[in-house]
Amino acid sequence: MGNPRIPLFLFFCILFSRVFALSSARFSPPDNHLIACGTASASTLDDRRVFLPDSAALLRSSGSKISVLAVPDASPASSPLSRTARVFTRPSSYEFQIKQKGTHIIRLHFYPFSSRDFNLSSALFHVSASGFVLLTDFGTSFPQLKEYLVWVDAEKLVISFAPARRSSFAFVNAIEVVSAPGDLIGDTARLVNPDRIEKFDGFSRQAMETLYRLNVGGPKVTPFNDTLWRTWVPDAGFRNSDSVSKTVAFSGRIMYREGAASREVAPDNVYNTARAVDGANVSDSNSNMTWVFAVRSGYKYLIRMHFCDIASRALYELYFNVYVNGYLAYEDFDLSMATGFLASPYYVDFVAGVDSLEQLLSVSIGPSKQSNHLWINGLLNGLEIMKINNTMGSLDGESPIILVLESPARRGFGAFLSSIVCGLGFMSLLMIGFVLLLKWRAETRNTVTWLPLPTDVSGGKSANGNPVVSSKLVYF
Ligand SMILES: *[C@@H]1O[C@H](CO)[C@@H](O)[C@H](O)[C@H]1NC(C)=O
Ligand SMILES: *[C@@H]1O[C@H](CO)[C@@H](O)[C@H](O)[C@H]1NC(C)=O
Ligand SMILES: *[C@@H]1O[C@H](CO)[C@@H](O)[C@H](O)[C@H]1NC(C)=O
Ligand SMILES: *[C@@H]1O[C@H](CO)[C@@H](O)[C@H](O)[C@H]1NC(C)=O
Ligand SMILES: *[C@@H]1O[C@H](CO)[C@@H](O)[C@H](O)[C@H]1NC(C)=O
Repeated sequence: MGNPRIPLFLFFCILFSRVFALSSARFSPPDNHLIACGTASASTLDDRRVFLPDSAALLRSSGSKISVLAVPDASPASSPLSRTARVFTRPSSYEFQIKQKGTHIIRLHFYPFSSRDFNLSSALFHVSASGFVLLTDFGTSFPQLKEYLVWVDAEKLVISFAPARRSSFAFVNAIEVVSAPGDLIGDTARLVNPDRIEKFDGFSRQAMETLYRLNVGGPKVTPFNDTLWRTWVPDAGFRNSDSVSKTVAFSGRIMYREGAASREVAPDNVYNTARAVDGANVSDSNSNMTWVFAVRSGYKYLIRMHFCDIASRALYELYFNVYVNGYLAYEDFDLSMATGFLASPYYVDFVAGVDSLEQLLSVSIGPSKQSNHLWINGLLNGLEIMKINNTMGSLDGESPIILVLESPARRGFGAFLSSIVCGLGFMSLLMIGFVLLLKWRAETRNTVTWLPLPTDVSGGKSANGNPVVSSKLVYF
């Protein structure tokens, strides 16, 4: 007979290790491609991530692919990713193997430096990924990190670069393709209309671009301290000054709970600081705290607000209203009811459109009719603003994918006309094909019972063709 305490002891060991794993395990993404472009050696960042050289296996190009090395004495403090780049004078793409379908985070690093042969500040190009247009006519004279969330439903993710003009070229310094945790993007949000709130469904399948990510009332959070290697900036530059808000900081433990915001949704460093409306300072005049963002009109935006009540002394003291663009987005929001605990993170997603006249998106939080002036009358810990793709599947302009990958694109009316002509030509070819197919089918009806669709033009078969062109057909 064995000792009956041993299984019990084992049981508790397993239980504790599970609880421990739940609370401390760092997210390890199934897909984690970190690529330093145009370099022959791996680069290690401050946040300990290792970026590997962009091997030939990833790269598909119809023309020469050119590596560019920055002047070595550029700036010793700068990121190692800023010292090399890959320059494309012809349409080219990177293909990443995807192990797990779902939302992926794509980050594109652009550090425009000047070398003997290329001044990267003068590049002008288009970028697309997984059938979505990410950038059109993009060029930059200062370092930029572009972040996107894209649903990937295939075994491969193709990121394509195409020069915008015959004389121009494209470049990129580094690329990240990282699986997003399953709970990062929910599927419903509150769609804020002038007169009512509706449900906005299915936004996990949209492509989004991160425009702003604020650690409200707190310091900058760097990729080193973030669970998904994001950067959160202080809210100072986006605030309309008010006389009611104060910053709050919390040194206790943030209580993440199953089913609510997880540590991947936002890290402790975001939830343990906030800006709060002090009930004592609320008057009859405007007592909201407000943030304002420059955005482009003609798009819908996802506004994610992070809440964690680190300011109240007890539950059920905090009630507030949320406004988006001045419209009531959430009335009498009761964080205690939503979480059941103090210091417990929660987030709410709103979607709002910005019409053609305004170029601003505003978010306000202020007292509701349930607020008591003895207590806190509003709170916000973090705020993220993401642009949602338009009906053309684009995050940057009206051009559908077929136009963007046409290359080297001629500009202006000529390009437009040629694309129409191409489109019409393609349509009529399709129709002729369809008619022929129908005819052939009618003729062979008695002998053929199954017809394969004549549409398979994907990847592998075009080994000696132009892969960018073939991916264009796939997108179409
Ligand atoms: C690179 O191009 C930018 C803009 O086109 C220009 O402002 C800059 O002076 C150029 N740099 C060099 C080193 O030529
Ligand atoms: C990470 O966060 C801690 C405090 O939470 C801070 O002291 C430290 O400087 C941060 N590190 C970086 C690299 O941002
Ligand atoms: C709130 O009011 C008190 C006095 O009533 C004042 O000392 C304090 O500065 C005010 N807070 C803000 C943020 O204006
Ligand atoms: C907050 O802003 C909204 C929208 O602009 C406004 O309707 C409301 O009266 C403001 N609340 C307070 C307390 O000033
Ligand atoms: C985003 O693109 C997808 C696919 O092209 C499309 O189904 C969806 O309607 C677009 N989103 C919006 C808000 O137009």
